[in-house]
Amino acid sequence: MVSAVAPQRPGVRHERPCALSRKDDSESTFAPAAASRYTALIMAIARDDTPERLVSASRADEEQNFELKLRPRWLGEFIGQSKAKEQLAIALEAAKSRGEALDHVLLFGPPGLGKTTLATIIANELDVGFQQTSGPALQIQGDLTAILTNLRERQVLFLDEIHRMQPVLEEKLYTALEDYKLDIIIGQGPAARTHVMEIRPFTFIGATTRPGLLSSPLRSRFGILLRLEFYNEEELRFIVTRSAEVMGVPIDQDGAAEIALRSRGTPRIANRLLRRVRDYAQVRGSGIIDRPTANAALTMLEVDAHGFDEIDRKLLLAIIQKYDGGPVGLSTLAATLAEEEDALEEVYEPFLIQIGFLDRTPRGRMATRLAYEHFGLPMPGRQAPLF
Ligand SMILES: Nc1ncnc2c1ncn2[C@@H]1O[C@H](COP(=O)(O)OP(=O)(O)OP(=O)(O)O)[C@@H](O)[C@H]1O
Ligand SMILES: [Mg+2]
Repeated sequence: MVSAVAPQRPGVRHERPCALSRKDDSESTFAPAAASRYTALIMAIARDDTPERLVSASRADEEQNFELKLRPRWLGEFIGQSKAKEQLAIALEAAKSRGEALDHVLLFGPPGLGKTTLATIIANELDVGFQQTSGPALQIQGDLTAILTNLRERQVLFLDEIHRMQPVLEEKLYTALEDYKLDIIIGQGPAARTHVMEIRPFTFIGATTRPGLLSSPLRSRFGILLRLEFYNEEELRFIVTRSAEVMGVPIDQDGAAEIALRSRGTPRIANRLLRRVRDYAQVRGSGIIDRPTANAALTMLEVDAHGFDEIDRKLLLAIIQKYDGGPVGLSTLAATLAEEEDALEEVYEPFLIQIGFLDRTPRGRMATRLAYEHFGLPMPGRQAPLF
């Protein structure tokens, strides 16, 4: 049973082998003839440590320990998300003053924006225990029953990837969430009896990148719904500066701003890029991350000014060049790019939509004027100015 409650991650989800594959790195980015001792070292860094897609918002497995170190522990350290933070601060204060368990919380938003972080912060702020499991980790009813019946008063139970929980278990959870009771069936066949078990009041926190997949009965069990948004550049600059401080890396404002700019609005990516740039600064620079160093490192890693990588560029160019700017259906686009529909919808598109490069319309995906401008291409249907 212990394994069911240990922090579990199914690894990188919905990601395909990608643009920054290791093979490509060594063949195209680094010419072997030019490899100095330092280049060789950088190559080793890039090969061994680079997650499959450098600007992916999903967590690479080896990042777990690193993330743990950088994770803010209190609401005051959690940068940005002012709407969610304010809503949470009020609810926390109220629950603490009443001495009751906090209402159940649903955290949703794209990967890497701080859902798990906020869940741990809630437990810290309430000064209660924290137990974590995930939708795919819960396989049988016994797992869920054991977890629920062992909960301590007012503690936090965090269920990551709640949209991947089995429907049978989801139904079991309803009564537990609503009136802290659990129906257990004892015996089999005609002799089976239902037994109602009381469980201690607790706070359930569910996290998902896909709130649309939750059934409405489950969604309605949550009293506090917190949507996490992409971070703006200033917030990311704070996050980079704070992370650099924790890591003991000297960085100036401009260096932090350069990393923030290319982080796709996502703290996980910001922290990952910071790590790469730090390596570069130590090997090639003076160890201090300033704008030129950050710029050179990120250019070497092929992260462009918007944090786009090969797949983003391919996606936008496919819409522009193959489908005249769209609209093009998701399944057609997925087939063209040899990607999964889920991956496109969940991993690649949200940020492109957020920065206004892509439109999701009822007829399909469309590239916007900004996307054309980014690639220096003329927008169809618009006459070039005569003068
Ligand atoms: N507001 C924030 N301030 C500072 N750091 C943050 C913030 N939000 C997230 N981070 C950092 O980003 C990393 C990723 O955050 P987290 O694991 O909470 O994301 P997530 O939303 O749970 O992602 P996933 O959907 O993949 O589970 C953490 O290590 C944390 O250090
Ligand atoms: Mg998480």
